[in-house]
Amino acid sequence: MTEAADTQRRTARGPLVYRQSVATRVTHWVWAICLFFLLLSGLQIFNAHPALYIGQQSGFEFDNALLEIGAVRSGGELRGQTRIFGTSFDTTGMLGASGQADKPQLTAFPGAVTIPSYRDLGTGRVVHFFFGWVFLATMLAWFVASLVQGHLRRDIIPRGADLKAAPLDAVDHVRFRLHHNRSYGPLQKITYFVVLFVLFPLIVLTGLTMSPGLNASWPWLLDLFGGRQTARTIHFGTMVLLVLFFVVHIGMVIAAGPLNELRSMITGWYRISPANPKLEGDKP
Ligand code: HEM
Repeated sequence: MTEAADTQRRTARGPLVYRQSVATRVTHWVWAICLFFLLLSGLQIFNAHPALYIGQQSGFEFDNALLEIGAVRSGGELRGQTRIFGTSFDTTGMLGASGQADKPQLTAFPGAVTIPSYRDLGTGRVVHFFFGWVFLATMLAWFVASLVQGHLRRDIIPRGADLKAAPLDAVDHVRFRLHHNRSYGPLQKITYFVVLFVLFPLIVLTGLTMSPGLNASWPWLLDLFGGRQTARTIHFGTMVLLVLFFVVHIGMVIAAGPLNELRSMITGWYRISPANPKLEGDKP
């Protein structure tokens, strides 16, 4: 290809294609809203007992905490302290003690990131369980619609070729050479597959494992996750992974062209790169 033709290919606008179905778009925004409320109400619930354990037991007489967030008095003032695997970190201002130095707020996570913003476990639980059920219903609706419409087979479940192409796609991502095709690229497929088929089910199942009602009817959940305390720790860890996914996801939306990306998740229409069978061809 001559230099002029190459420049023309890169600057020309490709066609608009219909990329996201109504079901994909509606479920995406419903679970984005649900996860926002679930995260903030979950941090309120965590604040009621800001420690995580591995094993069946928890309490003062046991020494099996992986994470503890609290406040300690040091030099006449209250400092926030986070202990992870036995190592303590000063987290004043963020975790354990936040707000004004003369009148610190002594909660694990500050009121700015909890729902409600003041200590209220009851309301936090009502909000958490409401959005938890909406989230589960949305996941099931997404699964059925994606199966019926072929979205699962075409865009989500990675094939052998996607796994092979993933390392090169990773190099392209590092160099910000992002492709705009009708279908998701190998890394997108793998990431969305992990989010939708590993992280989402894991956070729902570990949540259900903490419900005393469900312990009675589905005791196998307790065996599967090693008890309620371990399930709580996995639930929290999965939340951290989803927050990390969210940060990278938003970063990639911005890097890939936020207007085009957002248009596709709002209207369904996406502008793909000008046709180039070798690099950017449409792979239905
Ligand atoms: C907790 C919040 C979020 C989660 C868990 C999430 C997860 C996902 C998943 C799993 C997909 C693939 C869906 C499918 O194809 O069926 C997707 C696609 C997408 N999401 Fe999100 N999302 C979140 C928030 C957002 C936000 C806030 C934005 C916009 C700023 C956004 C923009 C997009 C776009 C544009 C796509 C289209 C696919 C692409 O081009 O990569 N998402 N998201």
